[in-house]
Amino acid sequence: MQGWLTPGLALEKSPGKAGLTAIPSSAIGTELHYPVVVRPGSLQSIGDFVRHVAPAFRYVIITDSHVGPLYSTAVAESVGVDHDDILAILAGEGSKTRGSWGWLTDEMLSRTLGRDSAVVSLGGGVVGDLAGFVAATYMRGIPIVHVPTTLLAMIDSAIGGKTGVDTPSGKNMVGAFHQPNGVLVDTQVLATLPLRELRTGFAEALKHGVIADERYFDLVIGSIPLIEGSVDDARDSVTALVVGSIEIKSAIVSRDEHEGGLRKVLNFGHTAGHAAEILSGFTLSHGEAVAIGMVIEARIAELAGVAEKGTAERIRSAVASAGLPVELPAGLDADRMLEVMRTDKKARGGTIQYSLPRRIGKMAGADSGWTVSVADEIVREVLT
Ligand SMILES: NC(=O)c1ccc[n+]([C@@H]2O[C@H](COP(=O)([O-])OP(=O)(O)OC[C@H]3O[C@@H](n4cnc5c(N)ncnc54)[C@H](O)[C@@H]3O)[C@@H](O)[C@H]2O)c1
Ligand SMILES: [Zn+2]
Repeated sequence: MQGWLTPGLALEKSPGKAGLTAIPSSAIGTELHYPVVVRPGSLQSIGDFVRHVAPAFRYVIITDSHVGPLYSTAVAESVGVDHDDILAILAGEGSKTRGSWGWLTDEMLSRTLGRDSAVVSLGGGVVGDLAGFVAATYMRGIPIVHVPTTLLAMIDSAIGGKTGVDTPSGKNMVGAFHQPNGVLVDTQVLATLPLRELRTGFAEALKHGVIADERYFDLVIGSIPLIEGSVDDARDSVTALVVGSIEIKSAIVSRDEHEGGLRKVLNFGHTAGHAAEILSGFTLSHGEAVAIGMVIEARIAELAGVAEKGTAERIRSAVASAGLPVELPAGLDADRMLEVMRTDKKARGGTIQYSLPRRIGKMAGADSGWTVSVADEIVREVLT
């Protein structure tokens, strides 16, 4: 069973019974309604999993122009998808639009895919969010199975059911909650992922450690050099990192599916991070911006007396050891940062709300909806 992650349901290889059976699992204390399987090499036999969790008359694969040529043929063959039913968008955030949603749904309609169809999303967070929104809306909703291929998508975006597209007014402004029927993670595909994208995943993994589990935080720090050395040689480290993060994220989102409270802890590093990402003109990747955001917000937490002394330095040092930046790029001044942070979706009545750590492994704000307001003077002091 090593390498299988089984929130809610465990899927086990069972010879003679169509390859897979579902058994209840009490070992993992999460309550997701769908199975998540993590296993290196599982892409080759994905058909068993897809047909088990999302039985459908016909499947469509949604992927992108980088991932499609690498992996879509293997997936299509295993699931039994006609080559013509593989739909690939141009890789990159620029494709996460209503235009792509329109193109994909039109292509599906022209292929006469009915309500008895299901979507397999094969790609990073862009493909997952877009394909998820297609599945949420096509014929008022059809099943989707996520096959995340970036580290970020494996540990973050494929879990939790948030789908959507960007608009000229901002990221993820139009979307829906649509839980997948299952998630299959083949960590072996990370071998082709560019280093910069891998590091984006490390930023989110460190974030999961800070918000929920000090031991996991240390595990991530120890795994990074091994994984950067060789994804193939570090198979066990990759599996442990991915499984640990999914357990943390799924434990949070299963208790708060629609972001009423607890789920806000996942925004640690993202208030300052989003502002840095926008003000850099997106020259900072999301992971780089979140890395800087975590360092800034941990310092804010210490200065505001929310976090124990030493927390910010441990986070800074972990971020640096992952090869991620710890400082804002030159030219981003405090006033501009504060201005953008005030327009954040999480701001309430012009007051910026922060998700801040108390220490590594524990977040502040249990009595105040898991966010804390901090005086601008403190934030300005950290930003300068
Ligand atoms: N729904 C959620 O809860 C949630 C959470 C976090 C982020 N997101 C969203 O996720 C998106 C970012 O996702 P991302 O970082 O995965 O970016 P991405 O999907 O753009 O992927 C990054 C790049 O890596 C390429 N790629 C993917 N897998 C590969 C592989 N195995 N080998 C080689 N190349 C590969 C892609 O083609 C792309 O060029 C953002 O739009 C963000 O808003 C959503
Ligand atoms: Zn993020």
